[in-house]
Amino acid sequence: MNNNENGNELYPVLGAVPFLNEPTNSDWRDAVKQLPSSCVDLVVTDPPYGISYQSNMRKEKHKKIVGDDSLDWLEGWVVELKRLCKPEAHLYIFCSWHYVDVFKQTIQNHFNIKNILIWDKKGFGMGDLEGDYAPSYEMVIFCSNGSKKLNGGRDSNILRTVRTNNENHPTEKPVNLIRYFIEKSSNKGDVVLDTFAGSFSTAKAAKETCRNFLCFEIDADYCAKARQLLMGVAPGLF
Ligand SMILES: C[S@@+](CC[C@H](N)C(=O)[O-])C[C@H]1O[C@@H](n2cnc3c(N)ncnc32)[C@H](O)[C@@H]1O
Repeated sequence: MNNNENGNELYPVLGAVPFLNEPTNSDWRDAVKQLPSSCVDLVVTDPPYGISYQSNMRKEKHKKIVGDDSLDWLEGWVVELKRLCKPEAHLYIFCSWHYVDVFKQTIQNHFNIKNILIWDKKGFGMGDLEGDYAPSYEMVIFCSNGSKKLNGGRDSNILRTVRTNNENHPTEKPVNLIRYFIEKSSNKGDVVLDTFAGSFSTAKAAKETCRNFLCFEIDADYCAKARQLLMGVAPGLF
């Protein structure tokens, strides 16, 4: 997967990185120190939203999301993404309405925010059943580091696909949605980065579409589960 059509090695510099295409149990702040500048073609990531989220959907509750109590990591994270991204990279950053203004203000100092995509989850979450509107969407901040075109041209900025049942993680994103982003904004053999991997949905989508992945998750349990899940995924099946 690391060779281009002419058989040349695309990322010789990444060959020495131990966690290329491995679900990696690490704080992103430590892992990125081993990565060279301008090595990433595409970022698809789902950071903590800064809302102290804990799911109440199950009898046996999921753990709280690490890093969700404050956004003090945000500026340093965006600066590091800027260092890692190639000049033409696209970025898809999941976000909720609560702090989208903070995310936007920080990101736009470093990248060109092209759009905010709406993911219509085709179902309602929990919450105040009488005094509020039912939450049924999430946002994805779509950014460009240059002037790269989308594969297959322009689509709607409203994307409709059902939410997951959060079997593997409290905020698990649909692999088909991530696969769509990967196919719109990268090519086979490219490198996709996810610094907040959770259930490693980005890694799974990257593997299915024959892209390389760099995916980091701080929680050892999620990472162990992902290793098992990913073993069963054949590259380019879909
Ligand atoms: C919103 S969830 C991502 C869910 C993921 N998109 C999925 O589909 O399962 C954010 C994840 O980032 C992880 N995380 C938080 N801080 C981190 C850090 N400093 N380094 C690596 N992972 C971190 C959390 O443990 C959590 O699993």
